[in-house]
Formats: sequence, C-alpha cells, structure tokens
Amino acid sequence: MNNSNKKRLQNQTAIVTGAESGIGKAIAIELAAEGANVVVNYIADADEAQKVADAAKSAGGKAIKFKADVSKEDQVKEMFSKTIETFGRLDILVNNAGIQKDAAIDEMTLDEWQKVIDVNLTGYFLCSREAIKKFKKQEPDENISVAAGKIICISSVHERIPWKGRANYAASKGGIMLLMKSIAVEVAEHKIRVNSIGPGAIKTPINKESWDELKQSIPYGRVGNPEDIAGAAVWLASDESDYVTGTTLFVDGGMTLYPYLAAGN
Ligand code: BGC
Repeated sequence: MNNSNKKRLQNQTAIVTGAESGIGKAIAIELAAEGANVVVNYIADADEAQKVADAAKSAGGKAIKFKADVSKEDQVKEMFSKTIETFGRLDILVNNAGIQKDAAIDEMTLDEWQKVIDVNLTGYFLCSREAIKKFKKQEPDENISVAAGKIICISSVHERIPWKGRANYAASKGGIMLLMKSIAVEVAEHKIRVNSIGPGAIKTPINKESWDELKQSIPYGRVGNPEDIAGAAVWLASDESDYVTGTTLFVDGGMTLYPYLAAGN
C-alpha cells in the first residue's frame, strides 16, 4: 500500500482468475488492500477460495468467490454477470489462471497440449473479451479511474525464454504476449489499458519441486514471492501507470538476463 490516505483502487471492482492459491491469491488480497472489490475466481478448492475472499475482506475490500472454468465460454459469461450483479461495475481483470503439464515433445499427449492451451490462452481470450464488453458499456468516471478499464495478463518469462519439456506452456505464454498486444492496440482509443506481467520463478504450488534448483538461474539470488507480483499488479491496475499499455513487465529477479542459463541448456 502507498503512503497517501487515498487507497489506489478505491471503488474499483476486479476479477482475479485462478485466485485460490499462489500468485492469484496474493494479487486478490493486495488489490483489496488498495480498496478494490474482488471476485476470487477458482476452479477446484472452494474452501481455499473462501479463505482468500475472507483475507481480502480483512485487507479492506469486499469480496466474493466464484467457481468457473475460464476455458468454458458459458461459465466465463456467468462470472462476469455475477460480478456486475454484485458490485455494479468492472474496472480490472487479472487473467491469472494457468496450468503447466510438462513433457518431452515426442511424448506430449494431445490432451497435455490442449488443456494448457485451453486454460492459459483461450481462457485469457474469453475473459478479456467479456471484460472489454463491460468496460465499453460503462460510463467512464475519472473519480474512480482515469482509464475505462484495465486488463493485466499474468504471463511468464517463458513468453520469451524457451524451455526443454515445456513446449505447450511456452507456446501458450508466447500466445498471451501477442494476444495482449493485439487487444491493447485495438482498445487503446477506448481508454482501456492491457498489459502483462512476466513472473520468473515464484514460490507457488506450480513449481514447488524445484525452488532450490531454480535459485541458480536468478541473478538476484532468490526465488520470488507471490507478493513480488502482487505489487506490480496493483501498480498496473492503478492510475500511476496510466501511460503504460501493450507491454510486459518482467518481475523475475533478472532471470530474463540469462535466458540460456534459465532454460537449462
Ligand atoms: C513456471 C514455473 C517456473 C518459472 C521459471 C513459470 O512460468 O510456471 O514452473 O519455475 O516459470 O521457469
């Protein structure tokens, strides 16, 4: 949180996908601490999602949890309708829900390929499309935000760095990069900003097997914490970044400075 009395996201509403754990959880709580109402989207664990919603409320915002598979069009539409019904508006979408199913390319099943693309890429398309519809419909209110809406895509250093055994995941993240930029250029005239964050190795359930090993590929010498990403997300959602659109902010302790070391090549 910043030092001034006005919270940076007061009266704004945010949807955070995949918010029951890891990076999504930290972002949901931090957005709430800055005054936002938060929809905690989840897919598997209702109890964890409720805990995140409770933590968001204690942090200062209002919050609900909502179960939806972001790769399913009807469920995504329901989530956006519920958000408007509950909070009356939408200002921020954080596309965060993502999965990883590593396999050597000649052993990767079509299912492992397709599921990763469906959640990581199609999910971002479906949620972004609904968010843009809502942003365009609502009256801009500069007392709430200078922008008519903000989308933040949680991408990865792997939108830039290839990685053995991760062709499906890297393809999804590379796809997110140009999805984000394409949407950004298309909606800029409506005062809608679209950006990505490219996390490096962050301590979350997705990579808990390899935290020690990962440290060696990070110039800054530590694996990141979800809160490192949450701070960047708040900034990209706030008017402090009003002139920033169509870009990826890498939050990676310098991992992208050493792509070949990071890729284990
Ligand atoms: C992956 C993690 C990995 C990190 C750095 C992330 O996008 O989900 O599993 O540790 O990139 O390679």
